[in-house]
Amino acid sequence: LDEKDAVQTPLCPHAASRAHTAHAAHSLDAIPGPTNWPLVGSLVELLRKGGLTRQHEALVDYHKKFGKIFRMKLGSFESVHIGAPCLLEALYRKEGNYPQRLEIKPWKAYRDLRDEAYGLLILEGKDWQRVRSAFQQKLMKPTEVVKLDKKINQVLVDFVSRIKNINNNGKIEDLYFELNKWSFETICLVLYEKRFGLLQEEVNEEAMNFITAVKTMMSTFGMMMVTPVELHKSLNTRTWQDHTAAWDRIFSTAKVYIDKKMKTNTDRAPDDLIGDILHHSCLTKKELYAAITELQIGGVETTANSMLWAIFNLSRNPGAQKKLLEEIRAVVPPDQDPCGEHLKTMPYLKACLKESMRLSPSVPFTSRTLDKDTVLGDYAIPKGTVLMINSHALGSNEAYFDDTKQFKPERWLRETSTINPFAYVPFGIGKRMCIGRRLAELQLQLAMCWLVRDFEIVATDSEPLDVIHSGLLVPNRELPVAFLRR
Ligand code: HEM
Repeated sequence: LDEKDAVQTPLCPHAASRAHTAHAAHSLDAIPGPTNWPLVGSLVELLRKGGLTRQHEALVDYHKKFGKIFRMKLGSFESVHIGAPCLLEALYRKEGNYPQRLEIKPWKAYRDLRDEAYGLLILEGKDWQRVRSAFQQKLMKPTEVVKLDKKINQVLVDFVSRIKNINNNGKIEDLYFELNKWSFETICLVLYEKRFGLLQEEVNEEAMNFITAVKTMMSTFGMMMVTPVELHKSLNTRTWQDHTAAWDRIFSTAKVYIDKKMKTNTDRAPDDLIGDILHHSCLTKKELYAAITELQIGGVETTANSMLWAIFNLSRNPGAQKKLLEEIRAVVPPDQDPCGEHLKTMPYLKACLKESMRLSPSVPFTSRTLDKDTVLGDYAIPKGTVLMINSHALGSNEAYFDDTKQFKPERWLRETSTINPFAYVPFGIGKRMCIGRRLAELQLQLAMCWLVRDFEIVATDSEPLDVIHSGLLVPNRELPVAFLRR
């Protein structure tokens, strides 16, 4: 957890000096890109390349064709895609105090309707900074986050025993859902000090409704990102109704547990990071409700999805899995649970996770809406432009990683590693990077220790696995893996 966080400590001297070449920069119009037809832009071309579910592949192709930067229009939505470490570094160096992502209008519309606050995923400007700094100290500091290892382990004990109980010759039906329940249970324990019992055989109604509401909310907002949310609202479409009903349930459940935590101010345990924030920050109750609810939303499927890919990559690379098992056995005594302290001496484990997140990132890209005119490389890009930062394209580019298609954890261990830190950005970059990164890494590293120690994760076929984009990058079929008890 305490490895150097290169993205927060940039290295390349060239990026800064680029700023002085502003006078020579070309305009936005000069940026190359795919066919731009009137009204539809590149939509038809993208559909021909496999549609929105294959957009990650199309974007890799476009980077191959047009290089580090290209410009694309889908309908009326225009964006500039950057897929080179030097451009990311330039952006990082020129970042203002309040970096912005693309707006999630459907979420804002719900909050405005119910007079609820915005959380970190949708806040902007000074309000974003105020809320971010209330959580930053606890959530981004490795020495604080590591205190959560026992809570994470509590859920892992249940998860491992569930895998032992529900497998059929080692196969788990709907592994992705099981992993989502695991990450949901963990984040709820961290945020609300509450076990929902999602890993038990009989899941209670409240827990099931809560997880279903999050699923519905996530599956209904995509449509309202590409068609005007105001229209859905005024026509009271089914999508809008389902979306608001889902948020109602999410907020009402979250509030019950946040209120409970606020009432108990005595004898807080040292690992109650959220309790500390609730009692010491200057945020209003409404702001806390929104911020904590959004932490939960941000932390569930992303972590489950990264674990799914780590499991897949280990199943297809038995050599790496064997080496990982050896490291686990050398560091974690058989009668002890893996813990934060052990992770300090487990470089191979960390390398396996990094390599999995490079090869199979969960979030293929993030975005920035420029709040000022900015020179990136050879181009002067105007304020208001939406930039797409493509971690998937970076991780699969031979210019930045050799043998990109191979799972090679060793590449992260070389003393003389030449990997550019800006080529690996699965959690985004700069001041607005994922605030749950440390927690996710701890959770994933511990889960890998528990699973690999107890099970041999084997591939049940060797066919290629097709990846589709559905917000996150997901396999298009049940993961071909089995868990064999060691
Ligand atoms: C933002 C990825 C886990 C909460 C982000 C961003 C990415 C990301 C790419 C956008 C960053 C940017 O724009 O530069 C991931 C991945 C995860 C993960 C891959 C798991 C492996 C978590 C967890 C939490 C969380 C566990 C909650 C504890 C958030 C929040 C933001 C965010 C609140 C918005 C931060 C802000 O704008 O200030 N995440 N995330 N994420 N993530 Fe995560």
